[in-house]
Amino acid sequence: MNEKSLQAALQDLPLGGLRYFEKIGSTNDAALFWKDAEDLSLVVANEQTAGRGRSGRSWQTPPDSALAFSLLLRPKIDEKKNISLFTGLGALALVTTLENAFGLKAQIKWPNDVLLRGKKLAGILIETSWLGEEINGIVLGMGVNVAAAAVPSPEKLDFPATSLEDALNKHVDRITLLQDILAALFERRPRLGTESFIHAWDENLAFREEQVWVQGRNGQVIHGKVLGLNPDGSLRLDTKKSIHFGDVRLRPTAL
Ligand code: BTN
Repeated sequence: MNEKSLQAALQDLPLGGLRYFEKIGSTNDAALFWKDAEDLSLVVANEQTAGRGRSGRSWQTPPDSALAFSLLLRPKIDEKKNISLFTGLGALALVTTLENAFGLKAQIKWPNDVLLRGKKLAGILIETSWLGEEINGIVLGMGVNVAAAAVPSPEKLDFPATSLEDALNKHVDRITLLQDILAALFERRPRLGTESFIHAWDENLAFREEQVWVQGRNGQVIHGKVLGLNPDGSLRLDTKKSIHFGDVRLRPTAL
């Protein structure tokens, strides 16, 4: 991956700007601190030295083996109502790409992980920037384990992980993958939060009808069977409780 090939491959997409780094701390930081960036500005890195995951965890991006990018979005008024839906947008873009490009059926571990055969392939981290009391930027950061070298060693994992090349047993071009994910994301964005959007997310949900536990930000753990998504994208369990977005950890009871 290099800046030139990236620019050439992405030239037909309506990007607001493009920044490529051979090595950077975190692409999310670069996007959050990109002054005056337009809607759909993109930061891509070959390697991250301080990649961030959710709930204060770190995210490894060794060189040449992963896809790590952050897309800055300038949300429209109606998009500001439920920022968490952008995790679904990112996850659906990847699921669609995996299906169309490779015939792979991936699943979404609500709210923000993409699984292949029950193992984590990718994670999404949404962060926001504010102007006074108003959100003026959403950064959608996505990390995909493309080659096996991107998968951390088992002792560093808190959920089993896999890579795309392991699943396919062949080389995967990271730039083409990125191009496809972005195209899928741009296509679905106008339907964010609509019935068809929630339906597509719901259809690809992992652990449906399975017992899980969900741990919230305050440490409280809720057990229940996954029934699906509510119209607002929150998770419906059979315990009558819905799980809203935030720092939640979801695990199958069996794990
Ligand atoms: C998670 O599973 O906890 C979310 C992981 C998100 C990782 C991506 S890699 C690109 C972007 N930059 C970061 O520092 N984090 C996100």
